[in-house]
Amino acid sequence: MSEGLILTPCLATAHGGTIPRWGEEVGRLEVIRDGALAWQEGVVAYGGRAADCPKALLELPTVQTDGAVLPGFVDCHTHLPFYGWRADEFEARLAGKTYRDLHGGGGIYRSARLLAEGTDDEVLGFSRTLTDEMLAHGTTALELKTGYGLSVEGELRQARLARSLAKEIPQTVRVTLLCCHAIPSDRSREDWVEEVCDELIPAAAEESLADAVDVYVEDIAFSVEDLAKVAKVARKHGLAVRCHADQLGASGAAERAAAEGARSADHLNHISDEGVRALAGSATVAVLLPVSTLFLRAESPPVADLVTSGAAMALATDFNPGTSPCLSMPEVISVAAALYRLPPLAAIGAATLNPAWVLGLHEELGSLEAGKRADFVVLDSPDVSMIPYRPGHNPVVETWIAGDRAS
Ligand code: NIG
Ligand code: FE
Repeated sequence: MSEGLILTPCLATAHGGTIPRWGEEVGRLEVIRDGALAWQEGVVAYGGRAADCPKALLELPTVQTDGAVLPGFVDCHTHLPFYGWRADEFEARLAGKTYRDLHGGGGIYRSARLLAEGTDDEVLGFSRTLTDEMLAHGTTALELKTGYGLSVEGELRQARLARSLAKEIPQTVRVTLLCCHAIPSDRSREDWVEEVCDELIPAAAEESLADAVDVYVEDIAFSVEDLAKVAKVARKHGLAVRCHADQLGASGAAERAAAEGARSADHLNHISDEGVRALAGSATVAVLLPVSTLFLRAESPPVADLVTSGAAMALATDFNPGTSPCLSMPEVISVAAALYRLPPLAAIGAATLNPAWVLGLHEELGSLEAGKRADFVVLDSPDVSMIPYRPGHNPVVETWIAGDRAS
């Protein structure tokens, strides 16, 4: 059904205004009691009070629901496609090892080996099961990343797999070339960055395999200077820039990401005060990944400072087999509430409109307004505060994409 009308006791969505939503604006959603959402040809024709719905739209095939209706979740930071799990590393960390200790024999290098050992069909089958599970949890758009290729051919293969997966699934996908994730073991950091700039990014751009690039800035990975080099080449090829910033330690990555005009600086557990100011004064979104904070037992980022200083914030899963084996955006909202004291509406804004901006999808997705795509979820309760309140429970009973029931 690409046309229809859903009547709901609660329609909660961002509405109009500046994109992304800076600072506290992220939580200023419209919560419409006795709402109606109408769509035609998969596009929202009306979202607002049922009492004000244009008469002609009331003739559309109508569904009445008891649950709240929200925009579909946009997961702007995942590490799919990957192949295989690393549960034993989680146990090793519980026993006292750190993420840094495991980097090498385990960690990113291990996922790179697993990916290389899997056939294309195996990787796609494994990943497809997971994106289906995401759909059932209300994710209607997501990022797929490379970063487990660790060679030019390996990275291009993972990006091609991401594009193939995108064709198979109903969600909207943007692909990020995480070209600097770990230093390939047979090269120096400098040589790899040169290869990335001279060969990998141009080849990926030539084949239209990526929409953005990403650099992991960390003492065990790449430097802010590497980020600057990669960002320059990415811009030349029309690709957006993203950055894994200040996750395990402070490196000035957030400031540099803002200076490079990056779409986002992600993680931010150890962002400095200057970093907070830099994000607040830029359009670079602070992407917070609370489940990886929880799973690494890491320091929380200064979320209140980011919000009050006016930085734009988004929430995402960081879904990966190492630091965040969680694919559920409702769970992310719940952990963000408990760890970061984020109220439900701020978390919902940070899981819909702002991440749509991070992926360059804000014109089409992220809110339920006339002209945007009818991507929405129906909850099992009229009360959106049940999302954070019930961790481990999937509150999404229906997921709709472009006006069609997808799950
Ligand atoms: O976002 N820290 C870098 N990258 C990922 C983890 C990747 C992995 O351990 O496989 C992250 O947390
Ligand atoms: Fe990540």
